[in-house]
Order: sequence, then C-alpha cells, then structure tokens
Amino acid sequence: MRWVTGEHYFTAVPGAPERRREIGFSIDGREYRLAAAAGVFSGDRLDPGTAVLLRKVAQPAPDEAGTLLDLGCGYGPIAVVLADRAPSATVYAVDVNTRALELVRENAAGRRVRAARPDEVPEEVTFSQIWSNPPIRVGKADLHDLLGRWLPRLAPGGVAWLVVARHLGGDSLQRWLTDAGWSVARHASQKGYRILRVGRESG
Ligand SMILES: C[S@@+](CC[C@H](N)C(=O)[O-])C[C@H]1O[C@@H](n2cnc3c(N)ncnc32)[C@H](O)[C@@H]1O
Repeated sequence: MRWVTGEHYFTAVPGAPERRREIGFSIDGREYRLAAAAGVFSGDRLDPGTAVLLRKVAQPAPDEAGTLLDLGCGYGPIAVVLADRAPSATVYAVDVNTRALELVRENAAGRRVRAARPDEVPEEVTFSQIWSNPPIRVGKADLHDLLGRWLPRLAPGGVAWLVVARHLGGDSLQRWLTDAGWSVARHASQKGYRILRVGRESG
C-alpha cells in the first residue's frame, strides 16, 4: 500500500533506504535502546501512544509463563519490554512489515520472542495477554478484521490491552468491540490516548 508521496509504515516490504537509528526510552526505571529504521512505524522515537500503554498497564508478573502477543509489533518496543518482564513467557511479535520483523529479531535477541508474519503463528496457539498499538490507519474495516482475527485467540481468562488515540477513533472502537460481544473497559486515558482492556468476561 502506498501514499502518493511514499510508503506507508505497513508496506509489507519497504523499498526506501533503511536509514538505521537507535531509539532510547525508559519504562519503570529500565533503559532500552532499540534499533529502528525508516519504513517502520514511529522509527525515530517511541510512539507516545505506545509509551502510554507501557506505562499505564501493569506489566506481566515476572513468573508469567504463558504466551503473549504483541500485535503489530513494529521494531518491537512492546515485545521487548514484555519479554524482559516475563522471561519465562513466550512473546509472539507479529507484523506484516518484513523490515519491522528483522528489527524486532535483532532487538529481542536473547529473549523469548518469536517474530512472525500473521500466517506464521501456529493455529493452535492462544494468548494469555494481547498487547497492541493497532494499525488504525489501515481503515475501520481492516482494523475490525484484524481484531476479529486475533481477539478470539485469547485464552480463557485472557486480556487484551489496546491503545488508540481518541481523535483516531478510540471511542468508536470501544463501542464496536462492545457490540461485537467483548467486555471492554476504559482502563486509562492520557495525552489523548485511550487504553482499552478487552476480555471475554466483565471485570
Ligand atoms: C501503530 S503501529 C505500532 C508499532 C509498534 N507496536 C510500536 O508501538 O511502535 C501498528 C503496526 O501494525 C502493523 N500491521 C499493519 N497491518 C497488520 C496486520 N494485518 N497484521 C499485523 N500487523 C499489522 C504495521 O506494520 C505497524 O507496524
């Protein structure tokens, strides 16, 4: 998919030169320096929505041993933080952008992170937690398809954490999820971002 002036970040195989850079950020006092590049979402700083998600939602417990999903992982800031906090968990980092997947493999080296295209995740795998800064700009229909594909893969009792900018439809996404039968709560709101907690049951 392309803009007139260039590629969008969810182009499957970015053609633009990589222009590597390093992105530094801290979460709960831990410092991270991750490789990023042109052609990948927010490749020059930690996205402010992702920062709100990582700071407002309690990280998995250190003894979490389930399978977690970072849906739309980009260069991998969410996957890397989750894998760091829960070293016994397996974290799937899923994206359609091949450059993003190369970066997340590099950034998550030594951690239990499996970088994969959507079709590479085995069908039988379910997730105790899904974390996502989803690709809102793909449009409503594609976004709903994406969530309709992955949310049903929550394990019993599992929870999904989504961050969405209010001006990009955070509130209407909450309504759509509720209408689709999910239990949705607005967990937090900061800097124009909504953090939605999505589960099968209320609470
Ligand atoms: C808003 S970005 C978030 C990236 C990263 N998690 C971050 O916080 O910097 C959304 C990501 O979703 C990816 N994406 C788009 N369509 C997708 C799809 N169908 N399945 C999985 N990922 C997709 C994009 O390539 C992009 O990397």
